[in-house]
Amino acid sequence: MGVSYKELGLVNTREMFKKAMEGKYAIPAYNFNNLEQLQAIIQACVETKSPVILQVSKGAREYANATMLRYMALGATKLAEELGYNIPIALHLDHGDSFEICKSCVDSGFSSVMIDGSHLPFEENIELTKRVVEYAHKFDVTVEGELGVLAGIEDEVVAEKSHYTDPDQVEEFVSKTKVDSLAISIGTSHGAYKFKVKPGESVPPLRFDILEEIERRLPGFPIVLHGASSVMQEYVDMINKYGGNLEGAVGVPEEQLRRAAESAVCKINIDSDGRLAFTAKIREFLWNNPKEFDPRKYLKPARNALVEMYKHKNINVLGSANKA
Ligand code: G3H
Ligand code: 13P
Ligand code: ZN
Repeated sequence: MGVSYKELGLVNTREMFKKAMEGKYAIPAYNFNNLEQLQAIIQACVETKSPVILQVSKGAREYANATMLRYMALGATKLAEELGYNIPIALHLDHGDSFEICKSCVDSGFSSVMIDGSHLPFEENIELTKRVVEYAHKFDVTVEGELGVLAGIEDEVVAEKSHYTDPDQVEEFVSKTKVDSLAISIGTSHGAYKFKVKPGESVPPLRFDILEEIERRLPGFPIVLHGASSVMQEYVDMINKYGGNLEGAVGVPEEQLRRAAESAVCKINIDSDGRLAFTAKIREFLWNNPKEFDPRKYLKPARNALVEMYKHKNINVLGSANKA
């Protein structure tokens, strides 16, 4: 056995989800790949007194290095302490696609892992998820499974079309696998191009009817919403203004996420909104300061924008502020 998350000052998601379910809010799950994103997440969540799930994809793990990430997570718990408020922090593997990567994360300090068998036939998804749960639970690491497929890119797996979660499958999946939470597909998708809408048209609403049916089948069970960036127009406009090209980028309206957060949805995944805010501010700075080449000069405003964006999400969208 390598390192336990407990030594890093992290917690698993069990207690977080229990409180989120009772309090009718959702825990933010923000993806990070680098120092500035991690600093911004911690600062925003400490300032708003929000619990948080630090989310690492397979690609992020390859980008940042697994050992480096473990110590970054340790640094994050210390930073939170130093900023003066002890918030619950989980370190979570996003879209794990094999038993091996989940095991490796459990062994190297993650407090929670996702095994995404959503592309597999139902029985195979159950078998794989169950195997991960059996291993992870030995170390008190929580596990998220997925039923239903989101359109868009899930790490290296690209799905053209989404398949909504079938409520008829959820009870069997949860009882056979013993997962701690379940990601479902109700109309969200990954990335910055979630819906094809003409100018002036509104995006199709999420399938709250499917969510309600799942809640009825699994009373009190934590549900996870992926692909939940709202693709904030202000940052899309800024990127386009300063040399980028993101025509047709559209996300999930924040009111719909607010409604989801009040339901059994206990975890809301946001990655693209962070990427957009960060890129927008870097583009703006470099456009206006063509002679500047000190990374600190352009990363600082980008990091500040992230802090504000995450605070806004915690306070106005997820309802997780003051719940730590
Ligand atoms: O669900 C996908 C996440 O946004 C992670 O994206 O695999 O490019 O790091 P990534
Ligand atoms: P977005 O691309 O909407 O931010 O979704 C992120 C996600 O689901 C990570 O697992
Ligand atoms: Zn996802």
